[in-house]
Order: sequence, then C-alpha cells, then structure tokens
Amino acid sequence: MVKADPRLDGRAVNRILFDEARIAARVAELGAEITRAYPEGELLVLGLLKGSFIFLSDLVRQITRPLQVDFIVASSYGDATTSSGTVRLVYDPETKLEGKHILLVEDIVDTGRTLNRLMALLAARNPRSLEICALLDKKLKNELKYPVKFTGFDCPNEFVVGYGLDHAENFRHIPYIVSLQ
Ligand code: IMP
Repeated sequence: MVKADPRLDGRAVNRILFDEARIAARVAELGAEITRAYPEGELLVLGLLKGSFIFLSDLVRQITRPLQVDFIVASSYGDATTSSGTVRLVYDPETKLEGKHILLVEDIVDTGRTLNRLMALLAARNPRSLEICALLDKKLKNELKYPVKFTGFDCPNEFVVGYGLDHAENFRHIPYIVSLQ
C-alpha cells in the first residue's frame, strides 16, 4: 500500500511498481544505450504527448550526443481504463523528418494500435531510420507490427499512472509509477 500522498487526492492505490530511484537508474541506462545506437547522423527525438512528457524530458538529458526534440499528439483514450483502439492526430510535428534518425518516444505500449498508426504515418516521410522507445511495455502487443527497440520496463497488465501517465488527466505529476487496480 502506498503511504498517504497528497497528490493522490485520497484515492486508494495499490503498490508502487517503479519508484523514483529505479526509474532514474533505468532512464540513465536507456540514454546511454540510445547514445551508442546513433554514432552519427541527425537524431530527432519525437515525444508522443501527453504521456511521454516527463519521461522524454528526463531521457533527452541522458543522451550525450546532438539531437532535436519535437512532439506528436494523438488521442486514443478517453476516461476509460481500456483501449478504445481509435487514434486521432491532434498535432503533427513541424520539424523536418526526412533523412533524420527518428526516435518515437511513447509512455506505454498496450495493444500497440497507437504505434501502428503513427509508425506508418512517420515512415511515409522518408526518415533515415525510425525506432520506438517505450518507458513501459505491457507485452500484450499482439497487434504491434514494429519492434520496440528501447524499453524501460516490462509492465504488468494493470492500469498504471504517474511519471506522465494519467487516468482521466489526473496523476501525471506523481513522480513514481503506481497501479490503480
Ligand atoms: P495502445 O494503442 O493500446 O498501445 O495504447 C497506448 C496508449 O494508451 C498509451 O500511450 C497511453 O496513453 C494509454 N495507456 C495504455 N495503458 C495505460 C495505462 O496503464 N495507464 C495509462 N495510460 C495507458
């Protein structure tokens, strides 16, 4: 049981899955892996909003090579805690993608439907390479047609919040990751 945290608004939550120290250590490792994976060429780190905003801001500070940052906004969840399977593009990156290494940064892979849609769209813009970095992977991705090249943690099949992940827009600011089930 999580001890009382005023950020949780009295909501009952289950155990902490990933605490701040564990997240920071893994993000540092991911930053080093990504730095090694791109020895040359232009790198554009493309964060999928809103869920990736905290992960992306920590991650880019652990990548020790030149890079650019932009965002893409897709809407796939309402207030429900199960995937609707529909993806709506709300913001398209303005940065040129052609000829660059594109690293798409996602908070969590659930069914993979969001990524299937976005990867197809981004591949059509002729990047030099296109890879996925996901903080969490629920490993249910029976529908994901692309490999996740960089994964933070495998995640149990529970609804999780914190470190950017929300439930009905709440709890994104919690610095650790907890299960709501
Ligand atoms: P997918 O298209 O089913 O892979 O869903 C991916 C998106 O659903 C993520 O970017 C999240 O926004 C959201 N999502 C999936 N699982 C969770 C969860 O456990 N907590 C919060 N958001 C989730």
